[in-house]
Amino acid sequence: MNINIKSSKGDYKVVDFNLSKANLKNNDNYYIIDKAVYKKNKVLKKIKNKSILITANENTKSYDNISKIINKLLNLKIKRNSILVGIGGGITQDITGFVASIIFRGIKWNFIPTTILAQCDSCIGGKTSINFKKTKNQIGNFYPPKKIYLDINFLKTLKFKDIKSGVGEMAHYFLVSNLKDWVLFKKNLNRLLNKNFDKKTLKNMISRSLLIKKKFIEIDEFDKKERLILNYGHTFGHALEKITKYKIPHGLAVAHGIDIANFISMKKKYISINIYQDIKKEMKKITKLNEIKNINVKNFFEAIKSDKKNKKNEIRVILTKGYGKMFIKGFKQNLALYSLLKQYIRSI
Ligand SMILES: NC(=O)c1ccc[n+]([C@@H]2O[C@H](COP(=O)([O-])OP(=O)(O)OC[C@H]3O[C@@H](n4cnc5c(N)ncnc54)[C@H](O)[C@@H]3O)[C@@H](O)[C@H]2O)c1
Repeated sequence: MNINIKSSKGDYKVVDFNLSKANLKNNDNYYIIDKAVYKKNKVLKKIKNKSILITANENTKSYDNISKIINKLLNLKIKRNSILVGIGGGITQDITGFVASIIFRGIKWNFIPTTILAQCDSCIGGKTSINFKKTKNQIGNFYPPKKIYLDINFLKTLKFKDIKSGVGEMAHYFLVSNLKDWVLFKKNLNRLLNKNFDKKTLKNMISRSLLIKKKFIEIDEFDKKERLILNYGHTFGHALEKITKYKIPHGLAVAHGIDIANFISMKKKYISINIYQDIKKEMKKITKLNEIKNINVKNFFEAIKSDKKNKKNEIRVILTKGYGKMFIKGFKQNLALYSLLKQYIRSI
C-alpha cells in the first residue's frame, strides 16, 4: 500500500509497515499507545520509557483528560522538534493528533492505526476530535500526521465487536461511492465478518475504502461541501452513541445510522423499498438493528439537534437517492423529522 494524500497542511502518505521488523529506537519519538495494543505486542516494551499508555474509551478522549496527557509528555521531556507517534485505534488517533496540534504550537506526528476503523477510515482526513462535556467531537482541528504506517497484523487481536464496528464504518464508504463498490462490499462482507482473520480480503477492502475517502477529502479538505456527504449514517450514529453513553461502538452506531437515513429516504420517496431492504439486509449482518428498540426517541431527537452541522433552525442530515447519490437534507419543521424517527423505531 502506498497512498498519497494531498493536503494544504502538507501532503502525507499511508505506507505498509511491519511492527516486528521496525526500528522503534528513534530518540526524537514519543508515543501515545493504547494499553490494549501495548499488552498484545511485546516489542512495544522497548519504548516504554518514551510512552504514555491510555485506556481507549470516549472518556479518555475528553477535553479534561488532554491536560493530563500533556503534563505527562512534558515530564518525559518532549521537545518542539520531537515527533509524537500514536499507536492504537481512532480514539488514540484523535488524542495524539489533537495534542500534537497544540503542544508548542504544533509538532510533527505519525500514526500507527491498529483497528479496522482506524485503518480503513480515520487515519486519513486530518480531523482531530475531542469530546467536550457530554458531547462527542466538539473540539478539534485539521492536523494530519506526516506518515501513517499500516500493519494489517494488528487486526488479528481485535475483539469481534471491534471487527464489526470497523466493518460498519467501512460500509458507508462503499455506499457513498457507487453501485459497483457496494456490490464489491456485499460480496466480501461474510469474509470481513469472519473471526478467522482473512488478511488479503481485509487489506484490499481497507485500501479501496481509503481510496474512496481520498477523493472526498482532496476535493473538500475542510468539510465545507462534498466531504459532508461522508456524514451519511453519522448524524444519527453520533446521537445514538451519545444517548447510550457510548455503549454502542462507533462503527455499529454508523450501521444503525445508515439504516435510519435510508428509512427516512424511503419514506420521503427518494429511494425504493428495494434499495432500503437491500442495504438493511447487510446492516443486519453487522449489528442487531432492533437493539435500539427501547431508546427514548425524544432524547435521540434532542441529541440529533445538537449536531454541529446543523444551522440555526435547521437540522441537517445526509439522505440518499441511491447508491453513490447521497445529499444534504435540511429539516425546517423539526416535528417532521421527529415523527419519522418514531416511525422508524416502531418499524424495527
Ligand atoms: N479523526 C477522525 O477522522 C475519526 C474518524 C472516524 C472515527 N473517529 C473516532 O474514532 C473512535 C473509534 O475508533 P476505533 O473503533 O478505532 O476505537 P478505539 O480506538 O476505541 O478502539 C476500539 C477498541 O479496540 C481496542 N484495540 C485497538 N487496537 C486493538 C488491537 N490491535 N487489538 C486488540 N484491541 C485493540 C481498543 O483498546 C478499544 O477497546 C471514535 O471516538 C470516533 O469518533 C475519528
